[in-house]
Amino acid sequence: MKYKHIIDFLRSLYPNKDFIPLHEPYFAGNEKKYLADCIDTTFVSSVGKYVDRFEDMIREYTGAKYAIATVNGTAALHIALLLAGVQPGDLVITQPLTFIATCNAISYCGAKPVFVDVDSDTMGMSPEALESWLTQNVDVLSLDSFELEHVQPDAAFSTGRSPLNRAQPTQQDEVRSTRRSPRPSSTIAIHKTLRRPISACVPMHTFGHPCRIDKIVDICNRYHIPVVEDSAESLGSYYKDRHTGTFGKLGILSFNGNKTITTGGGGMVLTDDEHLGPLAKHITTTAKKPHPWKFEHDMVGYNYRLPNVNAALGCAQMELLETILANKRETAMLYRELFADIADIQYQPEPPHSTSNYWLNAILLKDQIQQETFLKETNENKVMTRPAWILMNELEMFKGSLAADLTVSKEIASRLVNIPSSARLV
Ligand SMILES: Cc1ncc(COP(=O)(O)O)c(C=O)c1O
Repeated sequence: MKYKHIIDFLRSLYPNKDFIPLHEPYFAGNEKKYLADCIDTTFVSSVGKYVDRFEDMIREYTGAKYAIATVNGTAALHIALLLAGVQPGDLVITQPLTFIATCNAISYCGAKPVFVDVDSDTMGMSPEALESWLTQNVDVLSLDSFELEHVQPDAAFSTGRSPLNRAQPTQQDEVRSTRRSPRPSSTIAIHKTLRRPISACVPMHTFGHPCRIDKIVDICNRYHIPVVEDSAESLGSYYKDRHTGTFGKLGILSFNGNKTITTGGGGMVLTDDEHLGPLAKHITTTAKKPHPWKFEHDMVGYNYRLPNVNAALGCAQMELLETILANKRETAMLYRELFADIADIQYQPEPPHSTSNYWLNAILLKDQIQQETFLKETNENKVMTRPAWILMNELEMFKGSLAADLTVSKEIASRLVNIPSSARLV
């Protein structure tokens, strides 16, 4: 066995385990107590104190002005893209090296992804690749001239057939205007030949390592493109001392069972925007107007609110977050030392100016043959490892998408392996 020494080392890190998973949750605090409280009080569903408490904890921890809990990270991303103004037929820039949820959420909005390459050290969107694609492919126009040419009036709204069509502006009208004519300024980025708006850019903080998000936001600001940060994997990760997910107009987190902390399933929308924060809450809670007994909804909303039982888990997990992060960092340092002495394997360290949560440690093998051998040997020996995702532009449904040169993404996909990264606290 070529990689026996590494398998032995992994077994020494996670002793007493027959099967070593990639990332398992750690429950050691108030989880059972808070869950029992939900059951005892019968508040297990969409009403209860833990949702507010969990949102407060995330707001305080990340520094975001608004944190809105959702059923999962994908739902959070869907809402964030809608609120950023993504409309059917638009283009949304993202990276090919990401989990399918990023592109699924873009598709739920009726938009199409455009893929630009990642940096080799962060594995997140490359600002240079982004700028180069924008320079070659994008015009910045006045919104008026674009609309004169392209936007047809919506029959349902203009003829009064829509129940949402009211004389006086309401909160729904605000939502509608956010979703239908939401361009944040009087200028809009348009693809030069397709003449379609580029209505958002979604960089991702891959495996918890922050990307160069400040530069990405600067570039997008020049093109009037809102940034929605997919920080699903990066709770506890900072770039230049600021929490990931708080640089863009909106950001999202995931609390799926495989993440640094979990609510079973869960997500969060983050924003500093005083208009979009309350709107995110409204739209994710079926757009119900507050009233003690009446059920009145002022738009078509979403049932994306996180149930109280899941939020209860989240509160208990947040109490453990610092312990988990410190432990994961220790493991990362052990990996770094181990792989420093192994010539043909490269450990992916914390990128510059960053504090990573080290969600999933990653190594690069020499080539795809070595990657296959490593994956086979470890998995056959009950040590779970896995390659990066198949690149999004190679999946059937995104094959025809616009894409820039993706050399770095391809290189990473053909060499990368994620290795066990659970907290070693049990
Ligand atoms: C990059 C990325 N985006 C979005 C998601 C979606 O999160 P969820 O599984 O909570 O829907 C995940 C993780 O699962 C992810 O890794």
